[in-house]
Amino acid sequence: MIDGKKVLFSGMQSTGNLTLGNYLGALKNWVALSDEYECFYSVVDMHSITVRQEPAGLRKRARNLLTLYIAAGLDPDKNCIYYQSHVSGHAELAWILNCFTYTGELNRMTQFKDKAAKHADNINAGLYTYPVLMAADILLYQADVVPVGKDQLQHLEITRDIAQRFNAIYGDVFTIPEPYMGKAGANIRSLQNPEKKMSKSDENANASIYLMDDPDTVIRKFKRAVTDLDASVRYREEQPGIKNLIEIYCACTGKTPAETEKEFDGKGYSEFKLAVGEAVAGVLKPIQDRFYELSKDKAYIDGIIKKNAEKADYYAMKTLRKVQKKVGFPERVR
Ligand code: TYM
Repeated sequence: MIDGKKVLFSGMQSTGNLTLGNYLGALKNWVALSDEYECFYSVVDMHSITVRQEPAGLRKRARNLLTLYIAAGLDPDKNCIYYQSHVSGHAELAWILNCFTYTGELNRMTQFKDKAAKHADNINAGLYTYPVLMAADILLYQADVVPVGKDQLQHLEITRDIAQRFNAIYGDVFTIPEPYMGKAGANIRSLQNPEKKMSKSDENANASIYLMDDPDTVIRKFKRAVTDLDASVRYREEQPGIKNLIEIYCACTGKTPAETEKEFDGKGYSEFKLAVGEAVAGVLKPIQDRFYELSKDKAYIDGIIKKNAEKADYYAMKTLRKVQKKVGFPERVR
Protein backbone atom coordinates (compact mmCIF):
# COMPACT_ATOMS: atom_id res chain seq x y z
CA MET A 1 0.00 0.00 0.00
CA ILE A 2 1.13 3.51 -0.77
CA ASP A 3 -0.97 6.33 0.70
CA GLY A 4 -3.88 3.94 1.21
CA LYS A 5 -3.82 2.70 -2.38
CA LYS A 6 -2.93 -0.75 -3.64
CA VAL A 7 0.13 -0.91 -5.86
CA LEU A 8 0.27 -1.85 -9.55
CA PHE A 9 3.42 -2.68 -11.48
CA SER A 10 3.88 -3.48 -15.14
CA GLY A 11 6.42 -3.04 -17.90
CA MET A 12 7.24 -3.50 -21.55
CA GLN A 13 10.45 -4.24 -23.33
CA SER A 14 11.90 -1.55 -25.54
CA THR A 15 12.62 -4.12 -28.22
CA GLY A 16 11.10 -3.62 -31.67
CA ASN A 17 7.96 -1.65 -32.39
CA LEU A 18 4.96 -1.93 -30.13
CA THR A 19 2.09 -3.98 -31.57
CA LEU A 20 -1.65 -3.91 -31.23
CA GLY A 21 -1.19 -6.98 -28.97
CA ASN A 22 0.89 -4.94 -26.55
CA TYR A 23 -1.71 -2.21 -26.58
CA LEU A 24 -4.85 -4.32 -26.19
CA GLY A 25 -3.24 -6.89 -23.89
CA ALA A 26 -1.52 -4.43 -21.59
CA LEU A 27 -1.30 -0.69 -22.21
CA LYS A 28 -5.04 -0.18 -22.62
CA ASN A 29 -5.68 -1.85 -19.25
CA TRP A 30 -2.93 0.16 -17.64
CA VAL A 31 -4.74 3.33 -18.53
CA ALA A 32 -8.07 1.94 -17.26
CA LEU A 33 -6.55 0.93 -13.90
CA SER A 34 -4.42 3.96 -13.31
CA ASP A 35 -6.89 5.87 -11.13
CA GLU A 36 -7.58 2.96 -8.84
CA TYR A 37 -3.98 2.02 -8.02
CA GLU A 38 -0.64 3.60 -7.20
CA CYS A 39 1.05 2.70 -10.47
CA PHE A 40 4.61 1.99 -11.59
CA TYR A 41 5.07 1.56 -15.34
CA SER A 42 8.57 0.72 -16.37
CA VAL A 43 10.35 0.70 -19.71
CA VAL A 44 12.25 -2.52 -19.04
CA ASP A 45 15.39 -1.78 -21.01
CA MET A 46 17.47 -4.18 -18.89
CA HIS A 47 15.30 -7.04 -20.10
CA SER A 48 15.88 -5.91 -23.69
CA ILE A 49 19.60 -6.67 -23.69
CA THR A 50 18.97 -10.40 -23.22
CA VAL A 51 18.82 -10.22 -27.02
CA ARG A 52 21.64 -8.34 -28.77
CA GLN A 53 20.70 -4.67 -29.37
CA GLU A 54 22.23 -1.87 -31.37
CA PRO A 55 22.94 0.79 -28.65
CA ALA A 56 21.64 3.94 -30.36
CA GLY A 57 18.57 2.04 -31.55
CA LEU A 58 17.83 0.72 -28.07
CA ARG A 59 18.13 4.20 -26.55
CA LYS A 60 15.78 5.64 -29.14
CA ARG A 61 13.19 2.87 -28.78
CA ALA A 62 13.26 3.18 -25.00
CA ARG A 63 12.53 6.89 -25.24
CA ASN A 64 9.79 6.32 -27.83
CA LEU A 65 8.22 3.69 -25.60
CA LEU A 66 8.23 5.98 -22.58
CA THR A 67 6.64 8.71 -24.70
CA LEU A 68 4.08 6.23 -26.00
CA TYR A 69 3.02 5.33 -22.46
CA ILE A 70 2.07 8.97 -21.99
CA ALA A 71 0.55 9.30 -25.46
CA ALA A 72 -1.69 6.29 -24.75
CA GLY A 73 -3.18 8.13 -21.79
CA LEU A 74 -1.02 7.54 -18.72
CA ASP A 75 -0.66 10.76 -16.78
CA PRO A 76 3.03 10.99 -15.77
CA ASP A 77 2.16 13.18 -12.80
CA LYS A 78 0.04 10.41 -11.31
CA ASN A 79 1.78 7.31 -12.66
CA CYS A 80 5.44 6.56 -12.12
CA ILE A 81 6.75 6.10 -15.66
CA TYR A 82 10.47 5.37 -15.67
CA TYR A 83 13.40 3.43 -17.14
CA GLN A 84 14.27 0.20 -15.34
CA SER A 85 18.00 0.86 -15.88
CA HIS A 86 17.74 4.12 -13.88
CA VAL A 87 16.84 2.27 -10.68
CA SER A 88 19.69 0.03 -9.55
CA GLY A 89 17.47 -1.80 -7.07
CA HIS A 90 16.10 -3.97 -9.88
CA ALA A 91 19.49 -5.58 -10.50
CA GLU A 92 20.35 -5.81 -6.82
CA LEU A 93 17.13 -7.55 -5.86
CA ALA A 94 17.36 -9.81 -8.90
CA TRP A 95 20.69 -11.14 -7.65
CA ILE A 96 19.25 -11.98 -4.25
CA LEU A 97 16.19 -13.62 -5.79
CA ASN A 98 18.44 -15.66 -8.10
CA CYS A 99 19.59 -17.39 -4.95
CA PHE A 100 15.98 -18.33 -4.16
CA THR A 101 15.07 -19.65 -7.61
CA TYR A 102 15.70 -23.21 -8.77
CA THR A 103 17.15 -24.02 -12.15
CA GLY A 104 14.42 -26.64 -12.49
CA GLU A 105 11.85 -23.84 -12.37
CA LEU A 106 13.68 -21.77 -14.98
CA ASN A 107 14.03 -24.80 -17.25
CA ARG A 108 10.25 -24.97 -17.51
CA MET A 109 9.79 -21.41 -18.82
CA THR A 110 8.27 -21.60 -22.30
CA GLN A 111 9.42 -18.10 -23.27
CA PHE A 112 13.02 -19.10 -22.55
CA LYS A 113 12.67 -22.19 -24.69
CA ASP A 114 11.17 -20.16 -27.56
CA LYS A 115 13.79 -17.42 -27.39
CA ALA A 116 16.66 -19.89 -27.04
CA ALA A 117 15.46 -21.63 -30.20
CA LYS A 118 15.23 -18.30 -32.01
CA HIS A 119 18.64 -17.00 -30.85
CA ALA A 120 20.61 -20.24 -30.81
CA ASP A 121 23.90 -18.34 -31.19
CA ASN A 122 23.30 -16.27 -28.03
CA ILE A 123 21.68 -18.35 -25.29
CA ASN A 124 23.09 -16.17 -22.52
CA ALA A 125 22.56 -16.44 -18.76
CA GLY A 126 20.46 -13.26 -18.80
CA LEU A 127 17.95 -14.89 -21.12
CA TYR A 128 17.78 -17.80 -18.70
CA THR A 129 17.33 -15.74 -15.53
CA TYR A 130 15.05 -13.21 -17.23
CA PRO A 131 12.03 -14.29 -15.12
CA VAL A 132 13.99 -13.57 -11.93
CA LEU A 133 14.61 -9.98 -13.02
CA MET A 134 10.93 -9.77 -13.78
CA ALA A 135 10.12 -11.05 -10.29
CA ALA A 136 12.46 -8.40 -8.87
CA ASP A 137 10.66 -5.68 -10.86
CA ILE A 138 7.33 -6.64 -9.37
CA LEU A 139 8.36 -7.47 -5.80
CA LEU A 140 10.52 -4.36 -5.45
CA TYR A 141 7.39 -2.21 -5.40
CA GLN A 142 5.31 -4.63 -3.32
CA ALA A 143 2.85 -4.78 -6.20
CA ASP A 144 -0.62 -6.16 -5.53
CA VAL A 145 -1.59 -6.39 -9.17
CA VAL A 146 0.25 -6.85 -12.47
CA PRO A 147 -1.72 -6.26 -15.70
CA VAL A 148 -0.24 -8.40 -18.49
CA GLY A 149 -1.21 -10.41 -21.54
CA LYS A 150 -1.65 -14.15 -21.36
CA ASP A 151 1.91 -14.88 -22.54
CA GLN A 152 3.30 -13.48 -19.28
CA LEU A 153 1.21 -15.59 -16.88
CA GLN A 154 3.91 -18.21 -16.41
CA HIS A 155 6.34 -15.47 -15.34
CA LEU A 156 3.78 -14.18 -12.86
CA GLU A 157 3.41 -17.68 -11.46
CA ILE A 158 7.16 -18.04 -10.84
CA THR A 159 7.20 -14.56 -9.26
CA ARG A 160 4.56 -15.67 -6.80
CA ASP A 161 6.46 -18.89 -6.06
CA ILE A 162 9.71 -17.02 -5.40
CA ALA A 163 7.94 -14.50 -3.15
CA GLN A 164 6.16 -17.21 -1.19
CA ARG A 165 9.40 -19.16 -0.76
CA PHE A 166 11.19 -16.06 0.52
CA ASN A 167 8.35 -15.14 2.87
CA ALA A 168 8.25 -18.68 4.27
CA ILE A 169 11.88 -18.26 5.36
CA TYR A 170 12.02 -14.61 6.43
CA GLY A 171 8.45 -13.62 7.32
CA ASP A 172 6.08 -11.34 5.45
CA VAL A 173 8.55 -9.42 3.30
CA PHE A 174 6.87 -9.43 -0.11
CA THR A 175 3.31 -8.77 -1.19
CA ILE A 176 2.11 -11.69 -3.32
CA PRO A 177 1.05 -10.19 -6.68
CA GLU A 178 -2.04 -11.14 -8.68
CA PRO A 179 -2.08 -11.03 -12.48
CA TYR A 180 -4.76 -8.93 -14.16
CA MET A 181 -6.09 -9.61 -17.65
CA GLY A 182 -8.76 -7.63 -19.46
CA LYS A 183 -11.98 -9.24 -20.76
CA ALA A 184 -10.85 -8.96 -24.39
CA GLY A 185 -7.41 -8.61 -25.93
CA ALA A 186 -5.20 -10.64 -23.56
CA ASN A 187 -4.17 -12.99 -26.33
CA ILE A 188 -4.02 -11.28 -29.72
CA ARG A 189 -2.83 -13.62 -32.48
CA SER A 190 -0.77 -13.02 -35.62
CA LEU A 191 -2.84 -11.82 -38.59
CA GLN A 192 -0.97 -14.23 -40.86
CA ASN A 193 -0.95 -17.28 -38.60
CA PRO A 194 -3.46 -17.42 -35.73
CA GLU A 195 -1.48 -20.29 -34.22
CA LYS A 196 1.13 -17.72 -33.14
CA LYS A 197 0.78 -14.65 -30.92
CA MET A 198 1.11 -11.23 -32.50
CA SER A 199 4.69 -10.33 -31.72
CA LYS A 200 7.06 -7.37 -32.09
CA SER A 201 9.70 -9.70 -33.45
CA ASP A 202 7.66 -11.33 -36.23
CA GLU A 203 9.59 -11.07 -39.48
CA ASN A 204 6.43 -10.74 -41.55
CA ALA A 205 5.28 -7.12 -41.19
CA ASN A 206 1.77 -8.12 -42.33
CA ALA A 207 1.42 -10.38 -39.30
CA SER A 208 1.35 -7.50 -36.81
CA ILE A 209 -0.35 -4.15 -36.54
CA TYR A 210 2.17 -1.68 -35.16
CA LEU A 211 0.96 1.13 -32.95
CA MET A 212 2.45 3.66 -35.33
CA ASP A 213 0.93 2.16 -38.51
CA ASP A 214 -1.10 4.74 -40.44
CA PRO A 215 -4.81 4.08 -41.14
CA ASP A 216 -4.22 2.87 -44.72
CA THR A 217 -1.63 0.36 -43.59
CA VAL A 218 -3.90 -0.87 -40.79
CA ILE A 219 -6.82 -1.39 -43.15
CA ARG A 220 -4.63 -3.08 -45.77
CA LYS A 221 -3.20 -5.51 -43.18
CA PHE A 222 -6.67 -6.47 -41.97
CA LYS A 223 -7.83 -7.00 -45.56
CA ARG A 224 -4.96 -9.46 -45.99
CA ALA A 225 -5.51 -11.19 -42.64
CA VAL A 226 -5.70 -14.96 -42.90
CA THR A 227 -9.22 -16.20 -42.23
CA ASP A 228 -11.01 -19.50 -42.60
CA LEU A 229 -12.97 -21.24 -45.31
CA ASP A 230 -16.35 -20.85 -43.64
CA ALA A 231 -17.28 -17.30 -44.64
CA SER A 232 -19.43 -16.49 -41.58
CA VAL A 233 -18.47 -14.18 -38.73
CA ARG A 234 -18.68 -16.67 -35.84
CA TYR A 235 -16.74 -16.65 -32.56
CA ARG A 236 -15.57 -20.25 -32.24
CA GLU A 237 -12.39 -22.29 -31.88
CA GLU A 238 -12.76 -23.84 -35.35
CA GLN A 239 -12.36 -20.37 -36.91
CA PRO A 240 -9.21 -19.10 -35.17
CA GLY A 241 -8.53 -16.34 -37.71
CA ILE A 242 -12.00 -14.83 -37.41
CA LYS A 243 -12.06 -15.43 -33.64
CA ASN A 244 -8.94 -13.29 -33.37
CA LEU A 245 -10.46 -10.51 -35.48
CA ILE A 246 -13.62 -10.59 -33.35
CA GLU A 247 -11.52 -10.24 -30.22
CA ILE A 248 -9.67 -7.28 -31.68
CA TYR A 249 -12.96 -5.71 -32.73
CA CYS A 250 -14.46 -6.24 -29.27
CA ALA A 251 -11.39 -4.86 -27.49
CA CYS A 252 -11.55 -1.72 -29.66
CA THR A 253 -15.31 -1.13 -29.57
CA GLY A 254 -16.34 -2.50 -26.17
CA LYS A 255 -18.83 -4.84 -27.87
CA THR A 256 -19.19 -8.51 -26.93
CA PRO A 257 -18.54 -11.42 -29.33
CA ALA A 258 -22.30 -12.17 -29.37
CA GLU A 259 -23.12 -8.57 -30.33
CA THR A 260 -20.47 -8.72 -33.05
CA GLU A 261 -21.84 -11.96 -34.49
CA LYS A 262 -25.27 -10.35 -34.63
CA GLU A 263 -23.98 -7.14 -36.20
CA PHE A 264 -22.30 -9.09 -39.03
CA ASP A 265 -24.90 -11.82 -39.41
CA GLY A 266 -25.30 -12.59 -43.10
CA LYS A 267 -22.42 -10.30 -44.06
CA GLY A 268 -19.17 -11.45 -45.63
CA TYR A 269 -15.61 -11.38 -44.40
CA SER A 270 -14.56 -8.37 -46.43
CA GLU A 271 -17.15 -6.12 -44.81
CA PHE A 272 -16.15 -7.38 -41.37
CA LYS A 273 -12.42 -6.99 -42.01
CA LEU A 274 -12.95 -3.41 -43.12
CA ALA A 275 -14.93 -2.67 -39.95
CA VAL A 276 -12.15 -4.15 -37.79
CA GLY A 277 -9.53 -2.12 -39.65
CA GLU A 278 -11.49 1.08 -39.20
CA ALA A 279 -12.10 0.41 -35.51
CA VAL A 280 -8.39 -0.20 -34.90
CA ALA A 281 -7.26 2.80 -36.96
CA GLY A 282 -9.73 4.93 -34.97
CA VAL A 283 -8.15 3.82 -31.70
CA LEU A 284 -4.57 4.33 -32.88
CA LYS A 285 -4.88 7.72 -34.56
CA PRO A 286 -5.26 9.88 -31.41
CA ILE A 287 -2.39 8.01 -29.72
CA GLN A 288 -0.15 8.66 -32.74
CA ASP A 289 -1.06 12.34 -32.89
CA ARG A 290 -0.29 12.79 -29.21
CA PHE A 291 2.96 10.85 -29.59
CA TYR A 292 4.25 13.16 -32.34
CA GLU A 293 3.23 16.21 -30.34
CA LEU A 294 4.92 14.99 -27.13
CA SER A 295 8.09 13.96 -28.98
CA LYS A 296 8.73 17.59 -29.85
CA ASP A 297 8.91 18.61 -26.19
CA LYS A 298 12.29 17.27 -25.12
CA ALA A 299 12.47 19.24 -21.86
CA TYR A 300 9.06 17.96 -20.74
CA ILE A 301 9.96 14.31 -21.33
CA ASP A 302 13.39 14.77 -19.70
CA GLY A 303 11.70 16.24 -16.62
CA ILE A 304 9.41 13.22 -16.32
CA ILE A 305 12.32 10.81 -16.69
CA LYS A 306 14.21 12.47 -13.86
CA LYS A 307 11.35 13.01 -11.45
CA ASN A 308 9.88 9.55 -11.83
CA ALA A 309 13.23 7.75 -11.57
CA GLU A 310 13.69 9.42 -8.19
CA LYS A 311 10.25 8.35 -7.04
CA ALA A 312 10.74 4.75 -8.23
CA ASP A 313 14.16 4.64 -6.59
CA TYR A 314 12.71 5.77 -3.26
CA TYR A 315 10.20 2.89 -3.10
CA ALA A 316 12.63 0.38 -4.56
CA MET A 317 15.24 1.17 -1.92
CA LYS A 318 12.71 0.75 0.88
CA THR A 319 12.10 -2.86 -0.14
CA LEU A 320 15.72 -3.56 -1.04
CA ARG A 321 17.09 -2.42 2.34
CA LYS A 322 14.55 -4.59 4.12
CA VAL A 323 15.48 -7.62 2.02
CA GLN A 324 19.21 -7.06 2.48
CA LYS A 325 18.74 -6.96 6.22
CA LYS A 326 16.61 -10.11 6.20
CA VAL A 327 19.20 -12.15 4.31
CA GLY A 328 21.95 -11.00 6.66
CA PHE A 329 23.96 -8.37 4.80
CA PRO A 330 25.91 -6.09 7.19
CA GLU A 331 24.31 -2.82 8.24
CA ARG A 332 25.40 0.26 6.35
CA VAL A 333 27.45 2.75 8.34
CA ARG A 334 27.45 5.47 5.71
P1 TYM B 1 6.53 -7.59 -23.69
O1 TYM B 1 7.35 -6.36 -23.84
O2 TYM B 1 6.79 -8.73 -24.60
O3 TYM B 1 5.00 -7.23 -23.83
C1 TYM B 1 4.42 -6.17 -23.10
C2 TYM B 1 3.01 -6.54 -22.69
O4 TYM B 1 2.21 -6.84 -23.83
C3 TYM B 1 1.58 -8.10 -23.67
N1 TYM B 1 1.47 -8.75 -24.98
C4 TYM B 1 0.33 -9.21 -25.51
N2 TYM B 1 -0.94 -9.21 -25.05
C5 TYM B 1 -1.88 -9.74 -25.85
N3 TYM B 1 -1.64 -10.26 -27.07
C6 TYM B 1 -0.39 -10.29 -27.56
N4 TYM B 1 -0.15 -10.79 -28.76
C7 TYM B 1 0.67 -9.75 -26.77
N5 TYM B 1 2.01 -9.61 -26.96
C8 TYM B 1 2.48 -9.01 -25.85
C9 TYM B 1 2.49 -8.87 -22.72
O5 TYM B 1 1.79 -9.90 -22.07
C10 TYM B 1 2.94 -7.78 -21.79
O6 TYM B 1 1.99 -7.57 -20.77
N6 TYM B 1 8.56 -9.80 -19.73
C11 TYM B 1 7.65 -8.75 -20.14
C12 TYM B 1 8.04 -7.37 -19.66
C13 TYM B 1 8.21 -7.27 -18.20
C14 TYM B 1 7.18 -7.21 -17.24
C15 TYM B 1 7.83 -7.10 -15.98
C16 TYM B 1 5.79 -7.24 -17.32
C17 TYM B 1 9.40 -7.20 -17.55
N7 TYM B 1 9.18 -7.08 -16.19
C18 TYM B 1 7.10 -7.03 -14.79
C19 TYM B 1 5.07 -7.17 -16.13
C20 TYM B 1 5.73 -7.06 -14.89
C21 TYM B 1 7.62 -8.72 -21.67
O7 TYM B 1 8.54 -9.14 -22.31
O8 TYM B 1 6.55 -8.08 -22.18
